[in-house]
Amino acid sequence: MLPLVGLVLCLTSAHALTAFPQKFQVGNLDEDMVVKCNTSEQQVTWTLNGEPEPMAELVAEGRTLTILGLDLPATGNYSCWAGSILLDATYVVVRSTSPPGQEEGMNVSCQAESYRGSFRCSWRAPSFAVFRARLTRSNGSFGDWVHVAGHRGRFNASFTDPSFCPFAEELHPLQLHLEGLSDNSFLSFTVHFFIRDIVQPDPPQELTVRRRGDRLYLSWAPPASWPLPKSYFALFYRLQYELLNGTQVDEYLEGAEETSLREGARRVRISCSDPYASPTWSPWSAWQDMEAARQRGPAAR
Ligand SMILES: *[C@@H]1O[C@H](CO)[C@@H](O)[C@H](O)[C@H]1NC(C)=O
Ligand SMILES: *[C@@H]1O[C@H](CO)[C@@H](O)[C@H](O)[C@H]1NC(C)=O
Ligand SMILES: *[C@@H]1O[C@H](CO)[C@@H](O)[C@H](O)[C@H]1NC(C)=O
Ligand SMILES: *[C@@H]1O[C@H](CO)[C@@H](O)[C@H](O)[C@H]1NC(C)=O
Ligand SMILES: *[C@@H]1O[C@H](CO)[C@@H](O)[C@H](O)[C@H]1NC(C)=O
Ligand SMILES: *[C@@H]1O[C@H](CO)[C@@H](O)[C@H](O)[C@H]1NC(C)=O
Repeated sequence: MLPLVGLVLCLTSAHALTAFPQKFQVGNLDEDMVVKCNTSEQQVTWTLNGEPEPMAELVAEGRTLTILGLDLPATGNYSCWAGSILLDATYVVVRSTSPPGQEEGMNVSCQAESYRGSFRCSWRAPSFAVFRARLTRSNGSFGDWVHVAGHRGRFNASFTDPSFCPFAEELHPLQLHLEGLSDNSFLSFTVHFFIRDIVQPDPPQELTVRRRGDRLYLSWAPPASWPLPKSYFALFYRLQYELLNGTQVDEYLEGAEETSLREGARRVRISCSDPYASPTWSPWSAWQDMEAARQRGPAAR
């Protein structure tokens, strides 16, 4: 078994993809495929992955090359030349034969920090080298292709829908179309989702202890990325106190940005969520220490 694995590795590393090719063509296993050289030259020569050796199952005629019975060794970079001048190059791959639904194993997950129409998606695809992704925006137009290089089989990319309206109810899901290439195969699929289902706010900011008279108050502000007006984009807040004996106590508030400080707390932190959408909580803010604030006395803020 081992020598075979070594051979396969050598074959693939000879033309490992590092970027999404400008031109590629997808074929089915064992079917013929015609590759055209985009040139005005009448006669061209071909290389496959830099090798001039024409294989038996390739038939070159004028500007076209026919691959007879596409198989894995016949995939790769077909370049056509006039002498030493590169005319054109087409990357040939086989359609991924994995059953539909394989994409579920890719764990595509998307998050938006707000309703501004931008979001980030990540997925796993260890056997693919590069991806490109394109968004169908909420107004039906296509965004540009975004090229995505992987790192150890993990991919992530950011997208923006400039036509997204934060004030309108989302009637249709956004569609994100992903295409992946490995050295010899092609994968294509679409994920659908509503922004409201993927919103995870950033943590609230400026969590501060204030003294007013002889009482202490906590105040905070919505995350900077959260849209305005507050009356429309209200937030649900969750305060978590750590008491002196180590017990943690949660307190929930809607809309408020101030509350009186709970007695006997050592420290406190805060997170938020959108009360009208998915119940996904933001990450926690940093802990705020109560001792320091208490000791600063009435003169301090
Ligand atoms: C294919 O080969 C040509 C000629 O060597 C090169 O310019 C091009 O970048 C290669 N394309 C890919 C996707 O590797
Ligand atoms: C062929 O090449 C011309 C000039 O570079 C380009 O405008 C055209 O889009 C190409 N056609 C294809 C099918 O790649
Ligand atoms: C996919 O995500 C789920 C939950 O997020 C996780 O439990 C699972 O391990 C992930 N699968 C892979 C292959 O990463
Ligand atoms: C996304 O990719 C960047 C660099 O490519 C990396 O620094 C970051 O941690 C990745 N984020 C996620 C959520 O995977
Ligand atoms: C959709 O929105 C984009 C970006 O705002 C804009 O460029 C495009 O013209 C719009 N298309 C339609 C059909 O409204
Ligand atoms: C910690 O203190 C709180 C309030 O003083 C009390 O309700 C709770 O039972 C205590 N927990 C433990 C584990 O002692």
